[in-house]
Amino acid sequence: MIKDITARVKLNNGVEIPWLGLGVLRLREGGEVERAVQTAIKNGYRLIDNAAIYHNEKGVGRGIRASGVPRKEMFISSKVANDQQGYQGTMKAFQRSLDWLQTDYLDLYMIHWPQGEISVETWMAMEELYEKGKIRALGVSNFWVHHLEYFLPKINIVPAVNQVEFHPELTQPELLAYCKKHHIQVQAWSPIMQGKVLHIPEIKKIAAKYDKTPIQVVLRWDLQKGVVTIPRTAKPKEIISNAQIFDFELTDEDVAEIDSLNRNKKIFPYYDQIPFLLKVLINNKRKLPVVSELIKAISFKIRNRLKMMFENNNHPKPQKIKVPVVKRIKSFLLLSACSFVCIKDEAMHVIQMFA
Ligand SMILES: NC(=O)c1ccc[n+]([C@@H]2O[C@H](COP(=O)([O-])OP(=O)(O)OC[C@H]3O[C@@H](n4cnc5c(N)ncnc54)[C@H](OP(=O)(O)O)[C@@H]3O)[C@@H](O)[C@H]2O)c1
Repeated sequence: MIKDITARVKLNNGVEIPWLGLGVLRLREGGEVERAVQTAIKNGYRLIDNAAIYHNEKGVGRGIRASGVPRKEMFISSKVANDQQGYQGTMKAFQRSLDWLQTDYLDLYMIHWPQGEISVETWMAMEELYEKGKIRALGVSNFWVHHLEYFLPKINIVPAVNQVEFHPELTQPELLAYCKKHHIQVQAWSPIMQGKVLHIPEIKKIAAKYDKTPIQVVLRWDLQKGVVTIPRTAKPKEIISNAQIFDFELTDEDVAEIDSLNRNKKIFPYYDQIPFLLKVLINNKRKLPVVSELIKAISFKIRNRLKMMFENNNHPKPQKIKVPVVKRIKSFLLLSACSFVCIKDEAMHVIQMFA
């Protein structure tokens, strides 16, 4: 049983990460984030989950300094943003995060979102920083199984952490099993569904049994699933209450009941880049999950384009590239042939299943 807030879990390189941390997404740079970080540290938190894109690293740095807790007791993480990826960009972004956080190393540095081939270059820079002792553990974020399958053979150091959306309506059993097999620690973002777990009847019922809040029950469920958790709030009362999860243990039945709420529902729909997915589709053995991501990516792109057309007439229209008809037909035929080659085995399998 994980008994108190000082408990940590060992990563694949021996570095230990606290089970509970404070997320700081959307906390305003300046007073708000600084106060939240100080309150958290005063109440025993040692892990602060940050990212360049949250634009509040300076406040986090000030909050940590003002807390008076020695740097080596803290566990500070940050992430390289999409537009900073690549070797040079990562080196620059990392140094900026260090400067803003007022530290000379990070405990965990992650790729914020997979960006295909360029993320491999990003990783090379991160491996170099790791070897120099500037980063204690390397991590990725938002990497699903097909991203890891593409990524792992191309890199030298296996990520220590994968930070992904994880909550009762998105329990990711396949990803959890894959990460366990490769000794990658899963960390949950939006663990309490941005507050929505408060309204789930099954969780309210379990919470009443333990005299806890639905949020405390879900955070405890994370720990019992072996998942590090980083709920976000700026409110002192909530920061304290989110840490009161170490004095009770859910039964296996309660854990299973929360597991059963899974609906594979993402709070923040993010879809891959289409060219990356096509490449994965061609090279991967298991094609059906990638095909489904590809369909989502294409429909996401179409929806966005339509939204742009109908909602914002003033938005500058993308320049139309003129492609000759013959070239269009050729591309269409080529794409159809590729898709057929890629999914024919799965299609035969499905046909056989129903035959
Ligand atoms: N890697 C990624 O791509 C990624 C993406 C999203 C998030 N993250 C990380 O994960 C962290 C957490 O995710 P999240 O911020 O999306 O959502 P979350 O932690 O699931 O939920 C945050 C929301 O829950 C509310 N809340 C927190 N504690 C509460 C309590 N005790 N009682 C009632 N309401 C409470 C907060 O309300 P108040 O604000 O009113 O307190 C806030 O609106 C982020 O801060 C960030 O560090 C990473």
